[in-house]
Amino acid sequence: MVYNFIINLGYLLGAIAFVWGLRLLSSPDTAKKGNTLAGIGMTLAILSALFTKEISGPNNYGWIVGGGIIGAIAGYFAAKKVKMTDMPQMVSVFNGLGGACAVLLAVVELFLIYNKGHAASNSILVILLSTILIGGITFTGSMLAYAKLQGLIKGNQFLLPKHNMINNIMLIALVALGVYLFTLGAGASQNLAIIFLIGSLIFGASFVIPIGGADMPVVISLLNSFSGISAAVAGLIYHNNIMLVGGILVGASGTILTVLMCNAMNRSLLNVLIGGFGGGASTAGKGGGSGDEVVKEVSINDAAIQLFYSDSVMIIPGYGLAVAQAQKVCKEVDDLLSANGVQVTYGIHPVAGRMPGHMNVLLAEADVPYDKLLDLDAANAALPSTDVVVIVGANDVVNPAAIDDPSSPIYGMPVLEVWKAKNTIVLKRSMSPGYAGIQNPLFFKNNNHMLFGDAKDTLTKLATELKEM
Ligand code: TAP
Repeated sequence: MVYNFIINLGYLLGAIAFVWGLRLLSSPDTAKKGNTLAGIGMTLAILSALFTKEISGPNNYGWIVGGGIIGAIAGYFAAKKVKMTDMPQMVSVFNGLGGACAVLLAVVELFLIYNKGHAASNSILVILLSTILIGGITFTGSMLAYAKLQGLIKGNQFLLPKHNMINNIMLIALVALGVYLFTLGAGASQNLAIIFLIGSLIFGASFVIPIGGADMPVVISLLNSFSGISAAVAGLIYHNNIMLVGGILVGASGTILTVLMCNAMNRSLLNVLIGGFGGGASTAGKGGGSGDEVVKEVSINDAAIQLFYSDSVMIIPGYGLAVAQAQKVCKEVDDLLSANGVQVTYGIHPVAGRMPGHMNVLLAEADVPYDKLLDLDAANAALPSTDVVVIVGANDVVNPAAIDDPSSPIYGMPVLEVWKAKNTIVLKRSMSPGYAGIQNPLFFKNNNHMLFGDAKDTLTKLATELKEM
């Protein structure tokens, strides 16, 4: 009795730590604390689970501790080694592994029912079959998302003719097979269940294939919510409350993020899943120059003078800021301009970079005050009265084709309307497109100048010039 009370108390404290940790994660100032607190909650949850009757015993501990040590070492080194720009890939792998764990648990339990005569109520069968379906989709879907983000798979490499129709048929067939397995109950054939598992794994990869470059944020958050749902369902299998609570928290936050990402892209989830929006890096958009248009370049010295004598400057960070790790020198330029009375703000697009909140994290790392950050609406309202916009390694999020070119694959996606400012300066290394793989007509506009080079080098040179003024 007391024993159970202590275990449940451990679960309760773990759950409180998860919720409180999530709360603290909502602001860059407290995010680190939130992460540590959630980690403590997870440790408490694992320790409490280890003492439950079902698990305790020397035979089990050998496997669990052995697996735990291998996992902890792999996780520690992976987290230490991963570059900030590769975080989305790591998140995808984590999502996928969560799904894979849930599938393994469900398959083991289902086979115990089929082969060893374990009790199988209707609700347990529904739980196990849906875990195989959702977990399987999460695993291969996340691995494919990883491969796309890592550039291992380009654009529409594996796209079949009528791919979305094939996906719809596959999904209907899988659901029908799941229902059939359910109706067969404990007497179903193991081979049929294996076909169901393989089908779920194939569908997971296949449903991510047509999803285009610019829509990847939505897919990642959707798979994140799937991994939470799989964990929650696995919690139901084992009647484990903390697994259920943790899974629900991940599932719910992933779902909220998916909705926010859909709003940021101005698209419905269904539209994302069947739309094939943005073709990935290999899709050449029609936007951009007509061929004879030229881009104007500006020298470091001229750019520095223009910035120094402006009243207002808005910096638009993008993925290139993360690649160049230019956030600290960007803040230095901001400080130099602010010291001269220039009003400096940052326009933050919700999908700039490669993960939700990517720019906020980078700028917080450089101690940029949070109140200088303007969200999409506030930035767009301020842009027409801004003297100079400095676009640091951003591309898709400032592409006017999203507003004025109905043939563009990103048409309809809300963007930062930087061309409405008096002048824009784009810091990037070349004329290469961004993640969506399409050219950017902004570069050819009359009030735009290009400042080619690595963002960190360019900003360092700008800072040097500004110091000499
Ligand atoms: P992108 O459109 O990807 O453009 C980044 C630009 O940075 C590139 O054009 C690149 O041009 C430049 N760049 C790269 N390294 C640089 C360096 N060292 N110095 C200077 N410039 C550098 O970035 P964005 O505007 O931030 O848009 C994000 C895109 O990623 C969107 O399409 C979004 O849908 C997608 N996406 C977002 C997420 C999330 S959740 N944020 C997740 C997955 C995908 P050069 O090569 O010419 O330098």
